Amino acid sequence: MRTFQRRIAAAIGAALGVDPAPLESQFSTPPDRKLGDLAFPCFLLSKELKRAPVQIAGELAALDLGLEWVSEVTAAGPYANFRFHREQFARQALAEIRSSGDEFGCSEAGAGRTIVIDYSSPNIAKHLAVHHLRSTMLGQAMANIFRAAGYTVVGVNHLGDWGTGFGKLLCALERYGSEDGLTESPLSERDDAITVLNGLYTRFNNEAKDHPELDDEARAWFQRLEAGDELARARWKEIRQFSLARFQQVYDRLGVKFDEVIGESFFEDRMPVVIAELEEKGLLEESEDAQVVMVGEDIPPFLVRKKDGTTLYGTRDLAAVKQRWDTWHFDRCLYVVDAGQGLHFRQLFTVAQMLGWECADRLEHSAFGVMRMQVDGGWAKGRTREGHVVLLEDVLDHAVEKARAVLLEKNPDIEDPDAIAEAVGVGAVIFSDMKARRIKDVNFDLEKIVSFEGETGAYLQNTHVRFCGLLRKSERQGFDPAAGAGAALTTDEDLTLLQELLRFPEVVERAAEEAEPSIVSQYLLGVASAFNTYYAQHRVVDEAPEHAARTADRLALVDRVRVTLRNGLRLLGITPLERM
Ligand code: ARG
Repeated sequence: MRTFQRRIAAAIGAALGVDPAPLESQFSTPPDRKLGDLAFPCFLLSKELKRAPVQIAGELAALDLGLEWVSEVTAAGPYANFRFHREQFARQALAEIRSSGDEFGCSEAGAGRTIVIDYSSPNIAKHLAVHHLRSTMLGQAMANIFRAAGYTVVGVNHLGDWGTGFGKLLCALERYGSEDGLTESPLSERDDAITVLNGLYTRFNNEAKDHPELDDEARAWFQRLEAGDELARARWKEIRQFSLARFQQVYDRLGVKFDEVIGESFFEDRMPVVIAELEEKGLLEESEDAQVVMVGEDIPPFLVRKKDGTTLYGTRDLAAVKQRWDTWHFDRCLYVVDAGQGLHFRQLFTVAQMLGWECADRLEHSAFGVMRMQVDGGWAKGRTREGHVVLLEDVLDHAVEKARAVLLEKNPDIEDPDAIAEAVGVGAVIFSDMKARRIKDVNFDLEKIVSFEGETGAYLQNTHVRFCGLLRKSERQGFDPAAGAGAALTTDEDLTLLQELLRFPEVVERAAEEAEPSIVSQYLLGVASAFNTYYAQHRVVDEAPEHAARTADRLALVDRVRVTLRNGLRLLGITPLERM
């Protein structure tokens, strides 16, 4: 709608001798179409011109703005309401929507700005669990959205591949690994390698409770790893590679792609520089033998180095801030990490501030809530009754299985049910993750999310498929959606849909600014619902020759609703289907 608002603002600006730019964003929708199609509140102008808003609204109503697509301006209190010349507006609106072709929704709003997005970032030697879904998919959707809005995006997978925990793991592997045959053959030959590794780790921790000397042994292993000891390095490397390959299988399935995979280990020899800078600036303090930065009264100190000299997750994060800034000179650096790590990021950002780093106020924690699963009639946080983490792959498999059952029930003769069930099932999981604002907790209800009814990904998929079907059929009937110029789109419902579609690029820009994919998902639900209202009242294809022009226009509209839905689903990371 912005193009149209800009034109009205320019006309007002010229007529009243004011700068039109601030007026462009002032418009709103009248509560009732009877009042007009676009409302302009006169409060801002009132301030500038020092006249009452009611008076200004009256003045605007009396002006001739010289816009052929505006048929009438009326004053209603402090508002000037613009009524559109329907034919003219529809024509121009359709042309505008078509102007970016298949790229509809994209813009150049963020051109020249760089966004670093830290997402997924799982720990190696662990499974990708269901709680990783949120960071992974929200982050991927943000990356897609920022790109569509014209920004340069660097998506980073900040792999958890370093830390004293790996000393314990290596120690456990050395002690018990041969019992499971884990040290005898390459990990890649073992399907259960991660599970077995986790088991060893747990066993180590249990035994260390009664045998504190084990901790010293683990520390020694970590030192070996740090010092580049051949065996320690080789085992760590194998675990890292193997984990990454397993992660990749899930990433491929979810359509997730990173620009950079930079693990915490990468910062091993970059931390000393940052620690030296802390020291130099007098920020490093001793506290209970550890080195810390006092970040403030109300938050605990930020730990830089432990008693035994080892560094921490936070130390590596601080080194990563510097590396990202030096490398990409970002405008924003987003950490798509659960809200539970809020304190960590508050500390981290404060330390960056204290260091006087220019990038400090460009760091953002794009926090999200927890995902709860149904366990025995209650909601639990990603764990089964036995306390095992729920694997992301299993959740995807279940969703696909459910989707397949629903699909086959609707249509037993469905072609290629595997591929379709995969897209619907995985898409449903993704959509459920992104439907509400990210900070909200999600109750993950498999039954509900694969349903074609309600506000689900499956419903949007199905709506998209219906558009594709309708257009295919009309093509066989000899219609061409490219032929319609839009002049027949004059009903209220036509206008509502056109106005809704025109917002798409603005919606994408706002979703980028707020790093909030749900702005796109909610928009798509709105478009689908506006179309269903439309469809209930208007016949799209009318074969009577006297209605050929109207049919062409309506098909043109359907075609652009289709593109909007398709592009929107893709932004969220969902694969839109053309048939099911
Ligand atoms: N590996 C961490 C975890 O699993 C998440 C890392 C998030 N990114 C960061 N730069 N701290 O909790």
